[in-house]
Amino acid sequence: MKKREMKVTPWEVSGEIDYEKLIKEFGVSKIDDKILDRIKRHTKDLHFMLRRKVFFAHRDLNWILDEYEKGKKFFLYTGCGPSGPIHLGHLGTWMFTKWLQDKFGVELWFQFTDDEKFLFKDKSYEEIQKWTYENMLDVIALGFDSKKTHFLIDTKHISLLYPTAIKIAKKINFSTVKAAFGFGNDRNIGEIFFTSIQAAPAVIPSVLKGRNIPCLIPLAIDQDPHFRVARDVYPKLGFYKPAIIHSMFLPPLTGVSGKMSSSEANIAIITTDSPKEVEQKIKKYAFSGGKDNTEEHRKKGGNPEVDVSFQYLRMLFEPDDAKLKKIEQDYRSGKMLTSELKEYLIKKINAFLSEHQKKREKAKKQINEFIYKEK
Ligand code: TRP
Repeated sequence: MKKREMKVTPWEVSGEIDYEKLIKEFGVSKIDDKILDRIKRHTKDLHFMLRRKVFFAHRDLNWILDEYEKGKKFFLYTGCGPSGPIHLGHLGTWMFTKWLQDKFGVELWFQFTDDEKFLFKDKSYEEIQKWTYENMLDVIALGFDSKKTHFLIDTKHISLLYPTAIKIAKKINFSTVKAAFGFGNDRNIGEIFFTSIQAAPAVIPSVLKGRNIPCLIPLAIDQDPHFRVARDVYPKLGFYKPAIIHSMFLPPLTGVSGKMSSSEANIAIITTDSPKEVEQKIKKYAFSGGKDNTEEHRKKGGNPEVDVSFQYLRMLFEPDDAKLKKIEQDYRSGKMLTSELKEYLIKKINAFLSEHQKKREKAKKQINEFIYKEK
């Protein structure tokens, strides 16, 4: 099989993802055991996404911990581009962000980039507003602390964001944006400006408080280029550079390259899917690392590395290391069949979604507590 060339930008992830290569190309640092030990000193245990290096890279994480150890709390910042339903690929970063909020007891600023999705997608403003509302429900359902969590919706909070965004924009030129994102001359002028809007929330709490507060941004690594560009700018405006912790992509159902995306919503598992839909999607589409027939599988065993069901357990749905290890061994040896592995995953996903869907209903009454109110 010929490897498709890797492409990773905030708007397109495709091909065989080579994370070692990304670390070099993006100039980020690897998450190593030394830094994990350091985090563990504060959190007591380590989230399984850290233990398994699903969060595999960072920028300036040691600095955030230095500041924290000096008694200076950071805040968290992440976001959602509301262009369609929330699928499993979105959830990892946000679940991990909630864990960080709980363990460090810190504030979270959460941006909904409705402007971005309007500018970059062939969708109406009205449709994007609908998804903004729907996506907020999913974020709330993950259990963030309403007293410590502030939603910013770009078109609603623009008067707060704009003075900072233009200061950032003035220090980024067209050729930098072209080089960072591969834009040609046919791009609309809103797209060219957008990075300054996504960069702003990393310093908005500092602007509001009138003093610098360290910021930590959990994100999937495709979002890094915005901050790679903006990090040069923040100090010029008198702010700290934000620290970043990067996750890998959850693979799409159909294979382990690229990432799950809502443009393939018909095959991505979305948070409003019924148990039956989940079962059908996994059974029909989840790429298997098993052998073609039972006899051969029993003899030779399966390959968990390329098996999407196994990867979903590892990255999202089986926090218990001992259980995961057992599944891995049994699958590799041929003791466990693909059908059994899929059955296990389907149960896990449906148990999660049944709870999530209840919380999502309740969230409809909580939205107002989460949307930031300007004082
Ligand atoms: N642009 C992101 C997306 O399309 C959403 C986003 C906004 C974001 N601010 C962020 C993601 C900060 C990570 C960190 O999903």
